[in-house]
Order: sequence, then C-alpha cells, then structure tokens
Amino acid sequence: MNLSKRIVAAFAALAVAGVAYASDAYTARHEAMEKVGGGMGTLSAMAKKETPFDAAVVQATAKMQEAELKKAAAQFLPDTAGGKSRAKAEIWTNRADFDALMQKTAEALVALQGVKDEAALMPALRAAGGSCRTCHDKYRLPE
Ligand code: HEC
Repeated sequence: MNLSKRIVAAFAALAVAGVAYASDAYTARHEAMEKVGGGMGTLSAMAKKETPFDAAVVQATAKMQEAELKKAAAQFLPDTAGGKSRAKAEIWTNRADFDALMQKTAEALVALQGVKDEAALMPALRAAGGSCRTCHDKYRLPE
C-alpha cells in the first residue's frame, strides 16, 4: 500500500470507529431508557389498581429505574446524535440544564422508592412521570 492509500485507509477506519461509537452510545441509552419506561408500565398498572399494591415491588422497580436512568444519562456522549437517535442537538449546547433534569428525575425515582401505601403511589408516580416528560418535550425529537 502506498502512503496515500494508507492515509485513505486510516481515515476510513476512523470514520467506521466514529459511527460505531455513536451507535453504541445510542443503543446503550435506548436500552436503558426502555427499561426505565418498562418500570413505568409496572407501576402505573399498580397505581390504576390493575395489579395489587406491593410496596416491595414499588421499591425494587423504582430502584431499577433510578439505576437505568443513570446508565442512560452517562451515554449521552458528544457527537452521538443523528441516525436512529431522537436526541436533540440542544442536549449538548444546554448540557447543564439536561443534567439537572436527569438529577431531578433521579430524585423523583428515589422518592418513589419510599412509597409505603397505595394512596401515595399515584402522586409519586405522577411526579416522576412529569419529570420524564419535561425532558422529553425539551430534548427528544418527535418520532
Ligand atoms: C434529562 C432528559 C431525560 C429524562 C429525565 C428522561 N429521558 Fe427518556 N429519553 C431522553 C432522550 C433524549 C431520549 C432519546 C434518546 C435517543 O434516541 O438517543 C429518551 C428516550 C426514552 C425512551 C425510548 C423511546 C424511544 O422511542 O426510543 C423511553 C422509553 C424513555 N426515554 C423513558 C423515560 C422515562 C420513563 C423517564 C422518567 C422516569 C425518562 N425517560 C427520563 C431524555 C430523557
């Protein structure tokens, strides 16, 4: 391989690495967010009395959601918008605001973990859900 071919090959390898980096971050945050969403399904069925109230399940579910939300938060790496991702570019220009919304939502999920009686579940779930929505409205592209 002559030098110019080698340079072209090196740039091509870098471009592939860049795409893999962006899609790995997207896949990781997408999967983590899906688990956070799945937890919402479990808890809203309970809040609507479709399933029996169980404080231990509430605690375990909200704890899992808190952990998965933090995993997702860590995967909003620079230059990982685009493609299948619905992440808005504003995430990276308003990073402090985005991180604060993540933090606020994590705190709402911690509060949810402390729910001990059925009457407290719906308000705590609404508070957490409202916090998710605030960020989605601001930083997630429509489907
Ligand atoms: C601070 C911002 C922020 C918070 C808080 C947040 N999300 Fe997200 N969420 C996003 C962004 C941005 C995406 C899109 C990521 C992508 O496509 O790259 C997303 C994607 C998702 C998805 C995947 C949907 C899809 O179509 O791919 C689900 C499900 C989801 N979030 C659920 C939740 C739930 C439930 C909560 C609250 C407990 C929550 N999120 C809190 C920013 C947030």
